[in-house]
Amino acid sequence: MAHLSNEAMASASAVNGQTSWHGAGAAEFDLRSDTMTKPTPSMLNAICQTTLLDDVFNEDPTTNELQSYVAQRTQHEDALLVLSGTMGNQVAIRSHLAQPPHAVLCDHRAHIICYEAGGVSAWTGATVQTVVPKNGIHLTLEDVQKYAVLDDNIHHCPTKLISLENTLDGMVMPLAEARRIVEWAHSHDIKVHLDGARLWEAVVSGAGSLSDYTSLFDSVSLCFSKGLGAPIGSIIIGSKPFIKKARWFRKSIGGGARQTGVFSAAARIALDETFGTDPHGKTGQLPSTHAKAKRIAEMWTSRGGKLQYPVHTNMVWLDLEASGVGPNDLAVIGQQLGLKLLGGRMVIHYQVSEEAIARVEKVFDTAMKGTYQRSEDQSKPYGSSKP
Ligand SMILES: Cc1ncc(COP(=O)(O)O)c(C=O)c1O
Repeated sequence: MAHLSNEAMASASAVNGQTSWHGAGAAEFDLRSDTMTKPTPSMLNAICQTTLLDDVFNEDPTTNELQSYVAQRTQHEDALLVLSGTMGNQVAIRSHLAQPPHAVLCDHRAHIICYEAGGVSAWTGATVQTVVPKNGIHLTLEDVQKYAVLDDNIHHCPTKLISLENTLDGMVMPLAEARRIVEWAHSHDIKVHLDGARLWEAVVSGAGSLSDYTSLFDSVSLCFSKGLGAPIGSIIIGSKPFIKKARWFRKSIGGGARQTGVFSAAARIALDETFGTDPHGKTGQLPSTHAKAKRIAEMWTSRGGKLQYPVHTNMVWLDLEASGVGPNDLAVIGQQLGLKLLGGRMVIHYQVSEEAIARVEKVFDTAMKGTYQRSEDQSKPYGSSKP
């Protein structure tokens, strides 16, 4: 690929330190989410070399190539670029369903029910059947069987779609369990969608290859702008007829964008350079984030801290209450050390530096010393969303 001239790079990075394309900038010390990454010079370079044709007309080569490339890597017939993970889930769910009475079954903590502004009910008229997994980590077939509605009793609302999430709160649903659920669902004529915003992380943890997971499902949404570091963009994958329908629904909610080459170019770099070109993501940049997450968890527990969830991937969930720490204490102490933290969840992305980890250790020292004035403030001034 041709490279930008020095002048072009200089002017692109000249605005000020915050917007410079060199270095991780503020992302280095931001552990609120793996969306807090900074696009890289190689993404900028790809954006500058991209094609600029119209994607509503399906004419943009960079976008079309990205869609075919992802379809091929995930062993699906087709793919569709969308603007966000939320749009991907909502368009996919809408495309699977016809009309009420119908229900979507998911984990009670699923993004589609907790953090998508009520979109499932609004767009589809579906009832959402939320299930608390018995093992506290991921749904099992037994959980699903207990709550799915299969009969045609007119008092009930039949389950027509199961929406799984992997990773969910950083935890992995094992491949074998996902397969059991999908096989059972299909045998009852129920479709299965996967919110795979962070499926990359499950793959990198060693749970299965990208296509081992994706090929199981009727549709999957994958995000380029979470751990992979692209500035914008997600993609949904599925059969040709499904994607044809999804393109229609994407348009209806304002997701038909024009010169999408500017973000599909960066998304391709994010996929190949951050996740990697191999099916297990071992050659990319994510494995080191898992190692850092485990170190942070160890720093916490070795000081007597408790964890809310096991650390499977790049997220560390600290149980602040059980550890005697106030809801905002870490964020306040972190701010004094130049770190951005959010409640008890820490997300390690590939631009979080060793210096940031060293500062996290200092935050833990201060919070756990017993001298820090514990705050009871529940107002979550640093944001209460879970991107
Ligand atoms: C599991 C999961 N799905 C979907 C989304 C939605 O993605 P977006 O913020 O791009 O709409 C998120 C956002 O963090 C997420 O964590």
